[in-house]
Amino acid sequence: MIYSLAPMEGITGHTFRRVHAECFGALDRYYTPFLAPPRVGSSFGGKNLKEIDPANNEGLNVIPQLLTKNADAFVWAARELAELGYAEVNLNLGCPSGTVVSKGKGSGFLRNLDELEVFLRDVCERSPIPVSVKTRLGLEDDAEYERILELYRSLPLAELIVHPRVQKDRYQGKPRWEPYGETLARAPFPVAYNGDIFGEEDQAALVAAYPQTRHIMLGRGLLANPALARMLTGGAPASASELKRFHDKLFCAYLDEIGGNAVFRMKEWWFYARCAFTDSMAVHRAVRKARKVEEYETAVERVFRTEPLAPVARFHG
Ligand SMILES: Cc1cc2nc3c(=O)[nH]c(=O)nc-3n(C[C@H](O)[C@H](O)[C@H](O)COP(=O)(O)O)c2cc1C
Repeated sequence: MIYSLAPMEGITGHTFRRVHAECFGALDRYYTPFLAPPRVGSSFGGKNLKEIDPANNEGLNVIPQLLTKNADAFVWAARELAELGYAEVNLNLGCPSGTVVSKGKGSGFLRNLDELEVFLRDVCERSPIPVSVKTRLGLEDDAEYERILELYRSLPLAELIVHPRVQKDRYQGKPRWEPYGETLARAPFPVAYNGDIFGEEDQAALVAAYPQTRHIMLGRGLLANPALARMLTGGAPASASELKRFHDKLFCAYLDEIGGNAVFRMKEWWFYARCAFTDSMAVHRAVRKARKVEEYETAVERVFRTEPLAPVARFHG
C-alpha cells in the first residue's frame, strides 16, 4: 500500500513534513498544501518558494499541488516545478471553501465541465511533468460524478485521488465509497482513496470492500495520531514520549521559522492532536488560552504531565 500525507493548508507544510518524517518515518508521498501559480514569466516566491524549495524537502517524495483555472499559469508553474526537480504536479479540484469555489477554482471548477475539459486537455498536453488530480464528486449531488468521471477517463492523468464527498458536505458526513469503487474499476490510470481513514479498522473495511485499493491518502487521522501510517502497516502506536518529542521538535522548528506566531500554528495542530488524549476537552482548554511562548510552554508541559493518552488516538471532530 502507498501511504501519502494529504495537502492541508496551514498545517502540512514543509516544516511539518520534515519533522513528522524525522520522528515517525517518511510516508511514501507528501502533497504540498495548494499553491497559487506565479504570474507567467515570474518564479515562485515568498512562502510558496519555501514550500517547494528542494532544500526544505530533502529526502522526501513531494508532489506540489496547484490551485488555478488558468491553463497558461498551470503550465508555466509546472515548468518551474520540473526545473526544480519535481516529477509530478497535482491539480486541486476539491477545495470546498466559498471564496475559492466562487472564483470557479477547486471544487468550483467541477461546475463547468466544458471549461474543465479544455483546461485539462491543454495542461496534460503541455505540462512537462505528469499531471494528477485530487477531486470531489461534485458540488451538490453525487450524481454529478458520472459525467466528471467520464471526463477524467478520457485524459492521460498520472493519478486520480478521490475524496468521495461533494462540495456542500465540506468535511461532514460519511465519504461515499461506491463512487470510489466505480473509479477503481473503470479508470485507466492509478486511483487513490482519501477520506476518514482514522484507524486500522477503517483501512481494513476499505480494503475488504475494495481489495484493489493501492494508495491511501491520510489527513486528519494522521494529525490526530502521528503514528497512524506506522500502525496501518502493523507498527506500534505513539508513546507519550514520542508524541512529546514530536511536539517539541515541531514547536522549535516553527519558532525558528515564524517566531512567536509558532504558538498559533501549534494551536491549529492541537485541534487534531488533542484527540490523542483521553480528555481531549481538557487538553483543548489548557492550550487554547496561551498567547505568548512562555504561557504556551507551561500549558503544554502540564498537558503532557497530567493528561493520559487515549487508548486509541483517533480523530473526532
Ligand atoms: C484545514 C484543512 C486544510 C486543507 N487544505 C487542503 C489543500 O490545501 N489542498 C487539498 O487538496 N485539500 C486540502 N484539504 C483536504 C484534505 O487534503 C483532505 O482531503 C481532507 O482532510 C479529507 O481527508 P481526511 O478525512 O483523511 O482528513 C484540507 C483540509 C483541511 C481540514
